[in-house]
Amino acid sequence: MKNIPVIMIIFGGSGDLAHRKLYPSLFNLYEQGLIHDNFAVIGTARRPWSHEYLREQVSDAIHETHDQVDENEVKAFASHFYYQSHDVTNVEHYVTLKKLAQELDDRYSAQGNRLFYMAMAPRFFGTIATHINDQHLTGSGFNRIVVEKPFGHDLTSAEQLNKEITASFDENDIFRIDHYLGKEMIQNIMPMRFTNPLIKNIWSGEYIKNIQITLAERLGVEARGGYYDTSGALRDMVQNHIFQIITLLAMPEPKDLSSDSVHQAKQELLKSLIIPTPEEVKKNFVRGQYLGSDTTFAYKKEPNVDPDSTTETYVAGKTKFTSGPIAGVPIYFRTGKEFKEKKTRIDIVLKHINNPYGQAHSNNITIEVDPESKIYITVNGKKIDEPGIRREDLTYVFSKEEMAKVPDGYERLLHDVFVNDSTNFTHWSELKRYWEFIDAVEDAWQKENEAGNSEIAQYLPYRMGPKEADNIFESPTEHWIYE
Ligand code: BG6
Repeated sequence: MKNIPVIMIIFGGSGDLAHRKLYPSLFNLYEQGLIHDNFAVIGTARRPWSHEYLREQVSDAIHETHDQVDENEVKAFASHFYYQSHDVTNVEHYVTLKKLAQELDDRYSAQGNRLFYMAMAPRFFGTIATHINDQHLTGSGFNRIVVEKPFGHDLTSAEQLNKEITASFDENDIFRIDHYLGKEMIQNIMPMRFTNPLIKNIWSGEYIKNIQITLAERLGVEARGGYYDTSGALRDMVQNHIFQIITLLAMPEPKDLSSDSVHQAKQELLKSLIIPTPEEVKKNFVRGQYLGSDTTFAYKKEPNVDPDSTTETYVAGKTKFTSGPIAGVPIYFRTGKEFKEKKTRIDIVLKHINNPYGQAHSNNITIEVDPESKIYITVNGKKIDEPGIRREDLTYVFSKEEMAKVPDGYERLLHDVFVNDSTNFTHWSELKRYWEFIDAVEDAWQKENEAGNSEIAQYLPYRMGPKEADNIFESPTEHWIYE
């Protein structure tokens, strides 16, 4: 869809996210003619920048992310950007912002359409939402808002934030962004599950033994110690990314591909999410913190981290549903900083069958999300010149040229916001359910901490995380497929 007139207001216009992701993604959409002429972007932040300085920043952001660009295009694109120095806690600043938005609306014939983007520290989201409402910043056309993660710190704060946002925006106009939902292979889960009889017909507890999700990172917390120490791996990665992946894997087939139907299928599933008891948390969850090495800090020694911190940089856990196609199938997940390598993958482990050959491997289906994008299925066959069974992978893979065409997750999701498609965003009812689960685990951990018997495994950096995570399986015949 072309030419969607809109005035976009970015809170956090001088920030890292805007620079690394939003400006380059908007430029790509502009270059493809997916946003055009009748748009203007107001970048806001506290610094006293000028329009010209913001435009230079935008142009730098594009040059840093593109090998070759047409300088005239960059200039034309950057000319749509305006800067407004803005303190989000100062009510009067919203009056000025509103005036600028109105002026630009007239100049660009934006038809009263507004798109707000919260790209700054999450502690300000509620304040911004409140003042968008009390200073009537919404326009006379459509009004949409994109909210970055984390959406709240627990269920109570998420509910509060949601209340503040829904004072001005309908649920349909709130785009809670989860960049994992913009990734190529995450978007491939539904077509893979629902278009292949080979896969669709075995998607049940009768054939699937367990599912394993790994979101491993090579990096530590880097400069984000302050934020991370109040969050931890469970809130930072499981509450959003891992739970959205789990939902896509376990939900029933939607009746069609509309955003409503997809969210309906997700919600139907989530009603049957089992919330763990404190005993189950103790048994089925492992938390860890990375140790130091010759060249790197231990987590507790990272800048802005409490030296006695009980925040986890690693978590492994288990979950299950009581309904849906894979009701009862254990879903194991783990995520951590300072792993051996960056790796995002999903392993669907199938049950063995009795067969006259005796030993055979299980047919596993693996979806690799990052850094490579591929799906492979392990199959058994005969060995050529000796008795026995050999194992090979059948691989679904993209060529280099195809991969080069895959847009960045942000570009995809921003485009979805422009065309009003909320399929790949988190609905409030999903988020609420995820927090209920996370709160149960956090509460159980908190009680353990208070009782002085918190079990936080210390793990060596750049390996596979704490070995305690090998013991969360229900049966001795289960183990991590990715080791
Ligand atoms: C973010 C987390 O949501 O996802 C970060 O806050 C994490 O801690 C990042 O590093 C990982 O994203 P990706 O796309 O690199 O796997």
